[in-house]
Amino acid sequence: MELKRLNSDVISKIRSSFNVSNVAQCVFELICNSLDAKASSVAVRVNLISFKIQIADNGEGITKGNMELIGLRYMTNKCRTLKEFQKQLNTYGYRGESLASIIENSIKVSISSRSTGSSETFIKTMGKDVNIEVKTTKFRPSIGTTVTVFGFMSNIPVRQKRVIDEIELEGVKKCLENLIIINPMTSFSLRNDATGLLLLKSPKNADIIGSFRSLHQDINDSFELLKVSKHKVTIEGLFHKDFSLSKKYQYIYVNKRPVNSPKLQNHILKLFQKKYFAQNHPIYETKKYPMYVFHIRCPSSIVDILSNSIKSEVEFQSWDVIMACTDKILNTFLGLNEQKIEKMSLYSPEEVSCGVSKVFGAVQGRAFKRKSDEAFEKENNVEKGKNSKTEKVLSPGTDPTQAYEIYDSGKDLVKPSEHKKIVSILRKPLEIKVNRESKIKKQKSYIETDLNQPYHTSEGLDKEFLYSKPNSNEIQGKNFLLDKFLRSAQISNDLDQVLKLVILMSVLKRSWNRILLLKKTLKII
Ligand SMILES: Nc1ncnc2c1ncn2[C@@H]1O[C@H](COP(=O)(O)OP(=O)(O)O)[C@@H](O)[C@H]1O
Ligand SMILES: [Mg+2]
Repeated sequence: MELKRLNSDVISKIRSSFNVSNVAQCVFELICNSLDAKASSVAVRVNLISFKIQIADNGEGITKGNMELIGLRYMTNKCRTLKEFQKQLNTYGYRGESLASIIENSIKVSISSRSTGSSETFIKTMGKDVNIEVKTTKFRPSIGTTVTVFGFMSNIPVRQKRVIDEIELEGVKKCLENLIIINPMTSFSLRNDATGLLLLKSPKNADIIGSFRSLHQDINDSFELLKVSKHKVTIEGLFHKDFSLSKKYQYIYVNKRPVNSPKLQNHILKLFQKKYFAQNHPIYETKKYPMYVFHIRCPSSIVDILSNSIKSEVEFQSWDVIMACTDKILNTFLGLNEQKIEKMSLYSPEEVSCGVSKVFGAVQGRAFKRKSDEAFEKENNVEKGKNSKTEKVLSPGTDPTQAYEIYDSGKDLVKPSEHKKIVSILRKPLEIKVNRESKIKKQKSYIETDLNQPYHTSEGLDKEFLYSKPNSNEIQGKNFLLDKFLRSAQISNDLDQVLKLVILMSVLKRSWNRILLLKKTLKII
């Protein structure tokens, strides 16, 4: 028989490449486009009677020129060359296929958008029986894009019929939840357009703890945030100190994309079980599960994500690095490698390549147990209630550069019982309000000026740092305590009190700036 190309409608039905073929996946892909366009607000409407899906965002919009090309397969503004593709992409999209696939599977798709700097709003409607042209439309008061899909899955009516509203909506909700957690600075809403009911609403949050708690209000905020880097892999982990009866509080992401990885989930569970096995903790006996958000960042070239559903399967080129980082972060959280971390000096190469970040420092708290007061005193050769080293360091006339050396020697100059007190003070949220803009500015200047933070310089992280609140809280916390210290130094003749605050400062941050301030202050006294 003669060799002939299949008709395009047949191709669209059987094509084996990327195909958006269920409602949750369609919503996921469209929200990802909004997030890639830097939207800070995304509204989703789903009608499972008419199969109409609408996503409206306040992102950067689409220019008239791009509007002409949008919807064609492999048209994308996110990635072009293989080199770009192999880097750690900062976008969800890169293949330029989802819109084309959604158009193929629907009656029509209409996109209206007003781009940044434009005073006009353009609309383009695409579909099999539609005359495709870009028109100007009613002026949109704000910048952004609205994508409306009419008659989704109209070319697969059997699948349309099989849709059970509740199950499908549950899938859409789950998909949104996954994106809400990892995109805390974006507000989301999901409405069932057939009933008018609001199914989900999440406000803009300052950080990932906020977005987690906006979805799970029953969960308290006993979280610990840790970060580990090795080679080109960075893992940020948010762990809760309690357990749950279900696995639903376990979120795993790779480059912000929600993924399904039973292998990683089981590995994490085993580490928890190992810790609690000896203690006969309920996690081992009754099925109790840890609660966490686990975010792996790595170059796209070492990971394979099969994006065939909203929670993609994930495969790594080398699981060894991933598992090593996972062990490190979990053992730190569980207090299993306390020795190793306590002994690490601030800028040791080990810490830079594979250590637990001090980005969050004392404000976030770290998961290691302290020795008893007695053991501490014995080890540091300190008389009960007296720390000879601090006295030596801070006696008037001492060269503060020496003080710095001692602070940085890796030895703990604070008694275990005092440390507990200090940590509890630091954990209290500070009542300092800053508006969003100044917050961002502060954070930026911190990144630029504080070269002591190696993790900010690792690839991709300086551009976009998810956990903004702990970070800015940390700065605010330090400034607050520094301020307290300076004030108390001015009014107090009680050297003991000043010494305590100095120790506090040294625990907080061993930075030159503060040591210099210390020097000045000591001169004042
Ligand atoms: N909500 C949106 N806001 C701005 N641009 C969008 C939006 N949705 C789609 N686009 C544009 O359409 C292009 C194609 O989208 P898509 O088919 O999802 O492919 P990809 O996301 O992989 O680039 C995107 O690269 C982007 O330029
Ligand atoms: Mg896309």
